[in-house]
Amino acid sequence: MSTRRIGVIGCGYWGPNLIRNFVEIPDSEVVVVADLRPDRLAFVQGRYRGVYVTQDYRQLFEMGLDAAIIATPPATHHALAYDCLEHGLHVMVEKPLTLKSHDAEELVQLAEQKSRVLMVGHTFEYNAAVLRLKQLIESRELGEVYYIDAARLNLGLFQSDTNALWDLAPHDISIILFLLDSVPVSVRTSGSSCVLKGVHDVVFIHLEFANCISAHIHVSWLDPCKVRRVTVVGSHKMAVYNDVENLEKIKIYDQGVELPESTNSFGEFQCSYRYGDILIPNIRFSEPLRAECQHFLDCINQNVTPRTDGRSGLNVVKIMESAQQSLDHGGAEVAILPTSFTQMPALGAIEFSGVEGSLG
Ligand SMILES: NC(=O)c1ccc[n+]([C@@H]2O[C@H](COP(=O)([O-])OP(=O)(O)OC[C@H]3O[C@@H](n4cnc5c(N)ncnc54)[C@H](O)[C@@H]3O)[C@@H](O)[C@H]2O)c1
Repeated sequence: MSTRRIGVIGCGYWGPNLIRNFVEIPDSEVVVVADLRPDRLAFVQGRYRGVYVTQDYRQLFEMGLDAAIIATPPATHHALAYDCLEHGLHVMVEKPLTLKSHDAEELVQLAEQKSRVLMVGHTFEYNAAVLRLKQLIESRELGEVYYIDAARLNLGLFQSDTNALWDLAPHDISIILFLLDSVPVSVRTSGSSCVLKGVHDVVFIHLEFANCISAHIHVSWLDPCKVRRVTVVGSHKMAVYNDVENLEKIKIYDQGVELPESTNSFGEFQCSYRYGDILIPNIRFSEPLRAECQHFLDCINQNVTPRTDGRSGLNVVKIMESAQQSLDHGGAEVAILPTSFTQMPALGAIEFSGVEGSLG
């Protein structure tokens, strides 16, 4: 298999992580990095000798590349990804794929026309703990899923050109769609602009799925505690994924509530509560971004559709757009209408490797 020649556009906070991974993976060579800021290009030159740097991303099109990685601010994703696809490159774009769903649809269509891989950086779908949660749901160990609750809270980083919804929620939305393997039918969103007028720093999203499952996401730039948590409550068991924990990232609670079969009167009504063991699976954790970058290269080499392809990027953007609409209309329910592109990608081939169970 020939080494894939890669160009990276955007080397701010997140770009260096992508550059490092593609430099370290033997199947790829980072040939060029483009950034508008000379200080970021100097950083690349200081760290990676032999990598060409430029302020003009269009130079990528003259360097015989196979693929472009885009890690610039979201408002620039559509134009940059479009140009790279037009020039015949495979493209990996950071989340969110775009800010508007029609822009995302255009990218999906263009990638299909050009037979190029279009992948979006929904990193958590490559995270061993999230894969373990999905395995717990698919094996029905948790029983029927009642609801999912996600929280992504922190103090900062305040930004004036986006809000906590667009900054933080794409991760949780992609995790929830991945876990449930379906898209919601409607969304309601409320929030507050506490610090900067007009910039929502605290947001609550409620997603309703067709099969009566609901999901709630709380994102905030204004919380004293760093929280990164996803709770899946099922009819048999409950599981909590706590990304802030170093080792015990997942806890499976053998706990639940059962209704009595029948009662004659209110006085006889009594639920039975089950308080069983708490299992802490041993998850062999490796860097999710490494798995994501390797998957992108594998999809190019094997001509297969990525797990987080353009369509899954589009699904997340559609939900974000509808969530923002609801926020703008005081929490009104907004229907999420399916398009021909919004079927979930086939997920059959996901490997649940690196996951072992043990009593904690
Ligand atoms: N997957 C994750 O966990 C994760 C984490 C953080 C950020 N991100 C995503 O990564 C992307 C970048 O975020 P960031 O925090 O690194 O932003 P950033 O502002 O720190 O960096 C963006 C860089 O892009 C450069 N840039 C902008 N327009 C350009 C252009 N036309 N050509 C070349 N360079 C250009 C800027 O100069 C800047 O250095 C965003 O989409 C963000 O959502 C993903």
